Amino acid sequence: PKDILVNELIAKMTLEEKIGQLNLPSAGEFTTGQATNSDIGEKIEKGLVGGLFNIKSVARIRDVQKVAIEKSRLKIPLIFGMDVIHGYETTFPIPLGLSCSWDMDNIKRSAQIAAKEASADGINWTFSPMVDISRDPRWGRVSEGSGEDAYLGSQISKAMVQGYQGASLMDNNTIMACVKHFALYGAPEAGRDYNTVDMSRIRMYNEYFPPYKAAVEAGVGSVMASFNEIDGIPATGNKWLMTDVLRNQWKFNGFVVTDYTGINEMIAHGMGDLQAVSALAMNAGIDMDMVGEGFLTTLKKSIEEGKVPIDQLDAAVKRILEAKYDLGLFHDPYKYCDVKRAKTEIFTKENRQIAQNIAAESFVLLKNSNSVLPLQTNQKVALVGPLAIAQKHMPGTWSVATNFDTPITLKTALEAKLGKANVNYAMGCNFDYDDAFVEKAGFFGKPLPSDNRAKEVLWAEALEAAKRSDVIVFAIGEGAELSGESSSRTNLLIPQAQKDLLKELKKANKPIVLVLFNGRPLAITEENELADAILDVWFPGTEAGPAITDVLYGTVNPSGKLSMTFPRNVGQVPIFYSHKNTGRPLSLEKTQKGEFEKFRSNYLDVPNTPLFPFGYGLSYTTFEYSNLKLSSNTLSKGEKITVSVEVKNTGNYDGKEVVQLYIRDLVGSVTRPVKELKAFRKVTLKKGETQTLQFDLTEEDLKFYNSNLDFVAEPGTFEVFVGTNSDTQMKLKFELVK
Ligand code: IFM
Repeated sequence: PKDILVNELIAKMTLEEKIGQLNLPSAGEFTTGQATNSDIGEKIEKGLVGGLFNIKSVARIRDVQKVAIEKSRLKIPLIFGMDVIHGYETTFPIPLGLSCSWDMDNIKRSAQIAAKEASADGINWTFSPMVDISRDPRWGRVSEGSGEDAYLGSQISKAMVQGYQGASLMDNNTIMACVKHFALYGAPEAGRDYNTVDMSRIRMYNEYFPPYKAAVEAGVGSVMASFNEIDGIPATGNKWLMTDVLRNQWKFNGFVVTDYTGINEMIAHGMGDLQAVSALAMNAGIDMDMVGEGFLTTLKKSIEEGKVPIDQLDAAVKRILEAKYDLGLFHDPYKYCDVKRAKTEIFTKENRQIAQNIAAESFVLLKNSNSVLPLQTNQKVALVGPLAIAQKHMPGTWSVATNFDTPITLKTALEAKLGKANVNYAMGCNFDYDDAFVEKAGFFGKPLPSDNRAKEVLWAEALEAAKRSDVIVFAIGEGAELSGESSSRTNLLIPQAQKDLLKELKKANKPIVLVLFNGRPLAITEENELADAILDVWFPGTEAGPAITDVLYGTVNPSGKLSMTFPRNVGQVPIFYSHKNTGRPLSLEKTQKGEFEKFRSNYLDVPNTPLFPFGYGLSYTTFEYSNLKLSSNTLSKGEKITVSVEVKNTGNYDGKEVVQLYIRDLVGSVTRPVKELKAFRKVTLKKGETQTLQFDLTEEDLKFYNSNLDFVAEPGTFEVFVGTNSDTQMKLKFELVK
């Protein structure tokens, strides 16, 4: 029936109506609900709109859908999109934080809940997951992705798509996913957003493409084109990318939407005028035009002039109608407009409790000297820092559906836990000294708390609070909008005012716990020396405060592991664990000691090692790895090799550990990374418990794209490493034989 219905409709459509289906305007201001697009109703009536985004609430969406169904000639329902990125009103940690949980069930669950809430509010399509691999924390959008690794990124990509789309898009509580930004958006030169990308194909296929491909394999309904160029042609007009790779090689059969004015931006890229770039996009394989109306205003002419074949247009229309069919909109255009669901299924107690648990699992314990953490409830706490009360910053970037009056701050949660009398709060400093910086950081109507009294007065208050307390908890870091879109930085430091306060607080001679808020890896070398403990909480979402106190007090033992390397300083960027060896590597011993050697690949001023490696994260307990074994020394085609290892909880708490397995292909027809993550498992171990874990490896796990871009496994020696982070040196060898 889908084919029949869609083909019959296409046969009835005028050229204008066909082009209309490819048009995706923004409804207006999602934050205020104000419609800024004044002639939208008229366009819908004429069949010139395929879908809308930036519109929130069942009432508004129903009104607009009614126009399409009751007033347009062919009554084709609209699709309603939104950036539901890390939750809806119940807001989960930013994606970079979520990825540090290494917990695929939880990640999937977060997407399921987001889908449930969004679909209860009229939305049926989300511009998520964002799976752009990035090794450059200067780029602000690392906060929206899953970090630096292709394997971890692919697992998360799959979990997110499954979470949003569920078993069937026909269900009421699932929504269509849109994997983005295809492709390579996370590799802009110098980490500056929207900048040029230039990358070898071998690197694209091996290191950057896998998470997009994983989404396609998981059945993602749509793909968003990226803003950047690839091989000199913007992704939006890149036929090799959109047709050869995406459709022909990967067999993607959903639809492709541009990013916001992506077609128009090809004019600035230098690809021609609006008609030329719109034709380029259509011929490349783009189906839907977000906001720019390049298709709407020029495609008819291009078709009449023979610059775009009508078949190309029909194929795009067909894909969009099929997506609407798959969502069940032809059966019931108001399927997602159920007022009762909107009232009962959004921001529920149950969803918030899950968000709190998931947030706690995403935190990464970076340091814990002398077991300062967990804190004891009989300790008086000096809570300092503007971020401890920055309610509107807790959800982090791209939280478009969040109600910003709902997030729970650290101060509120701590006072609820200990009683107000046991929490001595002092802001201690402003977010930074520089107003312009503060203003930018407070973008999107989320001002940071500020106090214009002299720095010395604020410091004195903080020191006074510290003196009256047993421990200092300093909520330190970035504001929500210091990362995210168009928030690139050339400096990865904590803002100076907060750095200075930390030094001042040392005078109190009390243990200092940093609760670090950040949308990217930061260069916290200095803070790492000054603080006794550091808990990285990213931006935890609406349930920030309770999730943080759960971990600070040991109700939850931290188990997050970094999905992105923390550099010692910005000059090391890009720094990532799966680098190549080079022809002049520094020896492991010298690398570990941080020694310099002339004419080797290293720096004069800083060791090659990061501050914290990929996969790193502490627990309140300790884990010991032993007895690494292989079932055989050889692996042949069609067989498997089993890697086993014993992991023991040797500390004083029950805890969770992410056991990580890496391989190294020692000799190849092309150079291979020094380590590649191939498997991991998050296990719970009771105090004193030992578990033997087994991982199977097959030839498939050893494959990579060679110079011909063939996906092959080459016979030879492989090393297999198992351990607690990517720095593990516990290894064995085996041979892949023909
Ligand atoms: O989905 C986003 C994208 O990630 C960045 N540009 C705007 C889109 C729609 O809001």
